[in-house]
Formats: sequence, structure tokens, C-alpha cells
Amino acid sequence: MIQLVIEKCSISNIPVALGYLLGLYCLKCIFDTLTNPLNRLPGPRVAQWTNLIHDYYLLKGQQPYYVHSLHQKYGPIVRISPDRVDICDAYAVKEIHKTHTKFPKTAFYRQLVSGNVLTMFTTTDFKFHAARRRLLASPISDSSLSYLVPQISNRVQYTIERIAEEIDNRGAADIFKWWLFMATDIIGELSFGESFKMLEAGKPTQYSMDLARISSLQPIRTTFPTLIKFGAYLPLPFFKSAAASGKRIGMYAHQSVQRYVNHLAENPENPKPTLFTKMFDTEKSGMNQSEIRNEAQGYIVAGSDTTAITLTYLVYSVCKNPEVQANLVKELFELPEPVSDRDLRDLPYLNNVISETLRLHTAVPFGLPRAVPPEGAQFNGYFLPGGVTVSTQSYSLHRDPKIFADPESFKPERWENATKEMKDVSMPFGGGSRICIGMHLARIELRLATALFFRRFPEARVSTKEGMNDVDMIMKCFFLMAPNGHRCLIEG
Ligand code: HEM
Repeated sequence: MIQLVIEKCSISNIPVALGYLLGLYCLKCIFDTLTNPLNRLPGPRVAQWTNLIHDYYLLKGQQPYYVHSLHQKYGPIVRISPDRVDICDAYAVKEIHKTHTKFPKTAFYRQLVSGNVLTMFTTTDFKFHAARRRLLASPISDSSLSYLVPQISNRVQYTIERIAEEIDNRGAADIFKWWLFMATDIIGELSFGESFKMLEAGKPTQYSMDLARISSLQPIRTTFPTLIKFGAYLPLPFFKSAAASGKRIGMYAHQSVQRYVNHLAENPENPKPTLFTKMFDTEKSGMNQSEIRNEAQGYIVAGSDTTAITLTYLVYSVCKNPEVQANLVKELFELPEPVSDRDLRDLPYLNNVISETLRLHTAVPFGLPRAVPPEGAQFNGYFLPGGVTVSTQSYSLHRDPKIFADPESFKPERWENATKEMKDVSMPFGGGSRICIGMHLARIELRLATALFFRRFPEARVSTKEGMNDVDMIMKCFFLMAPNGHRCLIEG
């Protein structure tokens, strides 16, 4: 056809030829759209033609709510954009997120992080991922972490002291701020061998502001990756300062790794243990320093906001439900002093409160995008061709009323006799071989921080000082969720 257009148009008719080609291109687009096998799937008509509506909600921080409303209208499988499908059922979760899955992560993850770096978190390659994960998993496994518990416990205790000071001075403490400082200091110390000392500073540091600026770019980075690529060259202060933040974070990570290398050289027999100590034997690990730096940087991004957000909603939800608070406090006050993580592991009510927070306020409510393998896949009676992006968003899975009665209510009791279905659809930490590598660390922090907080402030309540209200706590969801007001004031 293109040959025919070229023959019909002489050199002097180039604009006409271009017009023909443009027309042909448009016809092809319309033909492809009308014959796309995904058209048979339930979903809004507009999703056949454009990403616009989906991306509008993404940029507004409401994408999981939009997808959830589509599930409520169209059922468990729904087309949410021209090449993306979300499924809300246990079979899809199992199939897509099982250990030897055929569904790789999509390029979305490389766009999500600053600098497009290749790490265990961002890779789409099964072999690279398996090799890297084998290396990194052992130091952060539940049993290996036990030697780091005293260090973690120490930081949690200090955080509670800082919260108490703020309550004394201000009448209320912003627990979102304090949990964020705590989680960032802990993962910084465990990754780089030195804390960022945010708890000591008690106010945002250059580093925390840089981290916040970088993560505020996530929705734009994933929606308009090209804009981000060239953003540093545009005369827009926002992009320029984001590029500067990215550089500073990279430089800081580089310097921290360098300091740890020097420390290892000075203390070869007894170095301060970190999650990466073994990797510095580069011959054995096969990782070079910049790879170690990127993975450590990845831990800091993945392990700070997630833990802080979960803890913030946990305290908020408990304080909003007096009966839950009374039960939790009673259980915690039966523990002997000093409270240790070993005592907390099997504490039934505490762990039910954590499970219920991870259900209702999961820090990653967004569907985790995966690519359908080349041979295609069958779900809910529909064929999905290879290359289509498929996800199972936890925001909807965790609110399925057939599995979680009265899904919007915060009811820790529902986990007393958790059914198989409840466990099958619960994915606050993802699933299969890509399940969160930091989940044991996160659980230690969640248990210790909850226990020490409610033992110190058994009568904690949500403050109304400084205009704080429920609007501050509406969940704003990009890839990660965060409270709308970026604060949560609690009185002791
Ligand atoms: C409550 C706290 C946390 C929550 C809710 C959470 C949630 C998640 C989720 C949902 C995933 C899966 C992403 C996907 O498959 O697309 C994930 C992966 C990951 N998380 Fe976490 N996370 C938490 C804490 C942490 C911590 C403390 C670390 C620090 C080491 C961490 C490091 C990672 C890494 C490196 C991955 C990628 C694993 C891989 O691809 O193999 N997370 N997390």
C-alpha cells in the first residue's frame, strides 16, 4: 500500500504523499483499535481508545479508587486502558504472582525510580532477578535479622521519647513525621552502616527533602517518562530541583558506601554488620560497588515511606476505634518489662491489628503491573494476548465483600480465624518470587513501634489541634499511598 502511495505521488507532491501516509496511519490505528481482542472484555468504552481517563486519576492520586469503581460496575475482570487489564480474584493473584511465574514485571518499575537504574526491584529479567535475590535474601531473612533487633529496638525507643517530647511542647505529635524519620534512620543504618540522624534533627533534613521530592515525581515519571528524561533541560524550576535532588541522593549514597568500605578496611575482623556487609567481598558476591550502592539506595526508598505509612494508619485506626484500643492496650500491659520482639511475635491481638491495617490501609494499593507472556493467558473466560499489562490491585482484593464482610470497617477480630480465601487475596507485600524482601524487617518495626507506642500512650487520641481533621487522612494513592495532609497529629 505504501509503495502504491509513493508511485502515485511524484517528488513535487511530497505534502500530498505525507497526507496519504498520515491518513493510512490513522486508518491502521482505527482498524487495530476496532479489532483488538481486548474489546471483548468488560470495561468503559473510553478504555478501548485512550489512557487519558486512567492517567487523569493516576495523576490525581485516585487511580486505585477509579479501578475499584470499575470492578464494582463491571465485575472481577476489567479493561482499564487500551493495553491494561485489572483482575480482582484469587486465581489471578495465584497465577500471576506465584513463585515460578511467567508474568514478568513491566518497564513501569524502571520509570518509577529516579535514574532508571537496574536493581532487584526494577529488573524485568527473571534470571537477573533470581541471582540478585539469592544474594540479598539471606541477610534480611527473619532468622538473620534477630542480631539486628537490639539496634532496631533502640531506635524505636528513641522515637517514642521524641514523640513524648513533642506532645509535651506542642500538645500533639505528628506521628507521620516521626515514623518516617524512624523508618528512614533504621533502613539507612542497616544498609549503609550509618543512620541519617533524622530522629536527632527532628526536622526535615536536605536528604529527607530530596527523598520526598523524588517520590513526588513518581506519578509524572510513570505517566510521562519522556518528559522526565528531558525535564532537567527544560527551563522549569520544578524539574531542575528534582534533577538536583536525584544527583544529591546518588552522591550521598556513593559517599556512604565509600565510608563503609573504609570502615571495613579498618575493622576487617569485626565490622559493623549491615544488610550488605557480605556483598563487599566483591569476588564472592559478583557485585561491584555501584551495584551495592543502587540496591542499598533501593532499600531506603522501598523501606521508609511504606513502613511509616502503615504505622501512621495503624495508630490512627486504633485511636478511632475505642474498643480496639482497649483490647490492644490490655494485651500489651500484660507483657513483662522490658518488651522484646520475641514476646510480640505471637501476641494475637497485636498481630491481628497489624493484619487489619495492612488490609485496609495497604501502603501499595496500586495494581502491581505484570506483562502477559508471549503465548497469552486465559482469565475469567477471556483470552489476554501476550504483551498486555495485567494487574491485581490490593485495594480491591482487600475490599472484596464476599471475602471480607463489612470491608470498610477496621475489625482486627476478623483475623482470629482467617479463612483460606482471606489469605489467598491478601497481598500487602506482593507475592511469589517478587514478594517484598523487607517484609520481616517491616514486621519487626511494626510490632515494636505499636507495642512501645501504646504502652507509653494508652489513651492516645487523634488531635483536632492546628485544624487536623479526617480530610488529612484521606488516602492519596500514587504507587505508594500517603495521607492527604502529610501529617497525623496525635495527643497522648
Ligand atoms: C510495611 C512496609 C512495607 C510494605 C507494605 C511493602 C510492600 C511491598 C510490595 C507490595 C512489594 C512488591 C512490589 C511488586 O511486586 O511490584 C515490595 C517489594 C519490595 N520491597 Fe517492600 N514493603 C515494605 C517494607 C519494605 C522494607 C522495610 C524494605 C527494605 C529492605 C523493602 C524492600 C523491598 C524491595 C527491595 C522489594 C522488591 C523485591 C523484588 O522485586 O524481589 N520493603 N514491597
